[in-house]
Amino acid sequence: MRLQSLRGFRDILPDEAARWQRILDAARAAAEAYGYRQIHLPLVEATELFKRSVGEATDIVAKEMFSFRDRDKTDMSLRPEGTASCVRAGIEHGLLHNQQQRLWYSGPMFRHERPQAGRYRQFHQFGVEAFGMADPACDIEVIAMSAAIWRALGLEGLTLELNTLGSPECRTRYREQLRDFLREHIDALDADARERVETNPLRVLDSKHPDTRAVVADAPRMADSLSAEARAHFEAVCAGLDGLGIAWTHNSNLVRGLDYYTHTVFEWTTDQLGAQGTVCAGGRYDGLVEQLGGGEVAAVGFAMGIERLALLLEQAELPVADSAPQVYLCWQGDDCLPAAQRIGERLRAAGLRTVVNAGGGSFKAQFKRADRSGADWALVLGPDELASDTLQLKSLRQREPQRTLTVDEALAQLGADVAIDPIAV
Ligand code: HAM
Repeated sequence: MRLQSLRGFRDILPDEAARWQRILDAARAAAEAYGYRQIHLPLVEATELFKRSVGEATDIVAKEMFSFRDRDKTDMSLRPEGTASCVRAGIEHGLLHNQQQRLWYSGPMFRHERPQAGRYRQFHQFGVEAFGMADPACDIEVIAMSAAIWRALGLEGLTLELNTLGSPECRTRYREQLRDFLREHIDALDADARERVETNPLRVLDSKHPDTRAVVADAPRMADSLSAEARAHFEAVCAGLDGLGIAWTHNSNLVRGLDYYTHTVFEWTTDQLGAQGTVCAGGRYDGLVEQLGGGEVAAVGFAMGIERLALLLEQAELPVADSAPQVYLCWQGDDCLPAAQRIGERLRAAGLRTVVNAGGGSFKAQFKRADRSGADWALVLGPDELASDTLQLKSLRQREPQRTLTVDEALAQLGADVAIDPIAV
């Protein structure tokens, strides 16, 4: 049997990894600029955690979790998202009680979905969660941070869709009203929506089925069920975004596929990725901490999909940092090996990405490798250079004469600062 990666589980090869790194670097820099600190969370949690947070009636929990029972007969699941774990950890370590916390995390999440471009069973998120701030300032903050990440990446053309689900009371009231309406039109709904009328009627609103969409067009609107406070909160968020020059559109059918949201929900979407157009999504979830056994703690956050953003960077042909070596050191003769390795260490310590040839080969073969490595420069060390304490410097990209230099001269020539060399050679 030929071994292959599992369906929906991908290898991230170096070119794509470079795009990922660019995204993660930009996201981390933005999170830190906004005062968020990193938290590492386990990949596996008690299944119960996701049932009680994401919600038993959601597709994620009902159909998509990788759940199993371990040798100790504990029911556990690979995490399908990060918010639940973050809340669990916050409660467990006393980070949330009477405090404000701004946290960020990144890593793999797992959902047993039907894989297609931009949708995988193992995918990766960068997420932020802010706790203890109930005012619209914090909703605005996390949305502004996501916008800052797109700016830093040079990504243009993303649309911010915004909605409010109101307080839990508004939501309960609206859910009943919507359910009554949908029951009256049950025969006109598609099978999937019909099933959801009883379990999760709000999800019927974002159905893509044309029959269901026709029904939904006349459904009662959440906006009409909002309390005065909920309306004021949403208006303040909208005004805050306007004040920052962040364009948004109101999508009153935006409900999100996780149960814990209240008030503001948002998604950043693109039309460049076909059906998987949401690159970042989040919102407020003021009831979740209490629901999981903590106190009454307001919370808001988002998570972005690294794979989808990497696809966008690739399509837009945006530049990514080059991680190829800058220098390739060719050497020959057993006597030269110690010097070649010492020089290699010195170049690296001076900040130059350096490959020292390994695997032998004639100088011709080594130059070929040097060229393929992506390096701009080759250094050559043979018995003559060893005897005279010099190197040959050869440009691999330009027609320039090869030069004989001392190691210090070569370092200076390569633009490195010899003075910062911390390794005594
Ligand atoms: P979510 O909408 O389920 O929200 O996922 C957030 C993002 O993860 C999506 O917008 C998408 O970019 C990416 N994503 C989701 N599923 C897949 C998949 N199968 N393949 C590739 N990418 C995917 C959450 O997870 C919430 N925890 C977000 C949040 C944080 N809300 C508040 N705080």
